[in-house]
Amino acid sequence: MKNSNITISYQQLSFQELSLSDKKTLDHAKQMAEKAYAPYSNFHVGASAQLENGMQIGGNNQENAAYPSGLCAERVALFTANSQYPDQAVECLGIYLPAVFNPTIPSPCGACRQVICEIRIAQDKPIRLLLMNGDNTVWLFNDANDLLPFSFTSDHLK
Ligand code: THU
Repeated sequence: MKNSNITISYQQLSFQELSLSDKKTLDHAKQMAEKAYAPYSNFHVGASAQLENGMQIGGNNQENAAYPSGLCAERVALFTANSQYPDQAVECLGIYLPAVFNPTIPSPCGACRQVICEIRIAQDKPIRLLLMNGDNTVWLFNDANDLLPFSFTSDHLK
């Protein structure tokens, strides 16, 4: 028998403690949340992907009367970035979830983690992940893939 452990490191900090660049990313994510189309859940989420060329690509959740047809803010932002700037690595992804979940961390869903994971592996550079909740508390992960250990990847298809 062999026992193993996985440790995930992250920081909790206030918006004010962030660098200018991270503030810009989360400000953009918050602005994007205001434009979310979420008439069914009324849960307005915003995301902003900062690319290596400095651009901020935003997304927000897009719902639909046929519920599964909607998409989360994170995937809207990342798919937009990848469709328009496929050669630009995502350096940082900021996500704003409007509620206060303390002590629980605001959390991207599993499907979004899977998409984040694939992009991170393809670009071979870490994606810094900033999660902010409704009272502007921020959680910072230096590599978004830490949120999805044992992920399913293209290697499994070989
Ligand atoms: N949602 C996101 O956009 N991102 C998340 O990280 C969690 C959930 C959306 C999906 C749905 O439109 C609404 O929030 C409620 O689940």
